[in-house]
Amino acid sequence: MDAKTGYKGKVLVVGATGKTGQWVVKRLLHYGVPVKVFSREREKAVGMFGESVEIATGKIQSAADIREAVKGCDAVISALGSSSVTGESSPADVDRDGVIRLVDEAANTGVKHFGLVSSMAVTKWYHPLNLFAGVLSKKWEAEEHLRAVFSGENRSYTIVRPGGLKDGEPLLHKLHVDTGDRLWSGFINRSDVAELLVVALWVEKAKNKTFEVINEADEEQQGLEQYYDRLPE
Ligand SMILES: NC(=O)c1ccc[n+]([C@@H]2O[C@H](COP(=O)([O-])OP(=O)(O)OC[C@H]3O[C@@H](n4cnc5c(N)ncnc54)[C@H](OP(=O)(O)O)[C@@H]3O)[C@@H](O)[C@H]2O)c1
Repeated sequence: MDAKTGYKGKVLVVGATGKTGQWVVKRLLHYGVPVKVFSREREKAVGMFGESVEIATGKIQSAADIREAVKGCDAVISALGSSSVTGESSPADVDRDGVIRLVDEAANTGVKHFGLVSSMAVTKWYHPLNLFAGVLSKKWEAEEHLRAVFSGENRSYTIVRPGGLKDGEPLLHKLHVDTGDRLWSGFINRSDVAELLVVALWVEKAKNKTFEVINEADEEQQGLEQYYDRLPE
């Protein structure tokens, strides 16, 4: 058990080679949490993370690959994201079906907590971003499935809905959190999205929460746990 956090599980990071996923891995390692990554390309993952993590290779289209990867993991954090209109990197395949498959395999294997990077405006079917193959609606369907499966006894979830994603170090911005998908604009660093999902592993108030988050001001932060105190029960 890590003295700082009290968390003693191993975490599977899915979408680990993506821009947010890499930050999830970095922040988990910062807190001394053992990490397994799930990647389509072993060489890419080895190049990024070296010996610091376990690597499971596979596609999010394969239930068998996922089942093998989640074995021995206590939590899953997904930073998966689509990048093409059709095919294996499409919103339907990745943001909806991929996440749903991951949720089901994680639950069946006994994973206790599931953290998901979703998106601001995910409930707004009429949002212009949805012109990209219905990406927001696909993410919404995956969110609904996660809430249904992981809100039961002995399981929990945390869903972060970020505004526009930016690169940069974590803990440099005061954040604004909200619920009910009422925000229309704003940005946040991927590293802070990662940090919010990592601390959610051991912050009780982060359990079974879905919330939007954007930067409020440039202001160094000691930690991000406090933002979970601001969410309604
Ligand atoms: N961009 C924004 O402003 C914004 C705003 C709000 C929310 N979001 C959401 O935030 C999330 C993270 O964004 P990001 O920019 O960090 O994403 P990213 O860099 O594009 O990373 C996406 C990850 O998903 C993986 N992936 C895609 N298809 C896969 C498949 N079929 N099997 C296995 N892995 C697959 C990619 O793997 P490879 O490395 O192998 O390609 C990569 O690791 C996404 O869900 C995105 O939609 C983005």
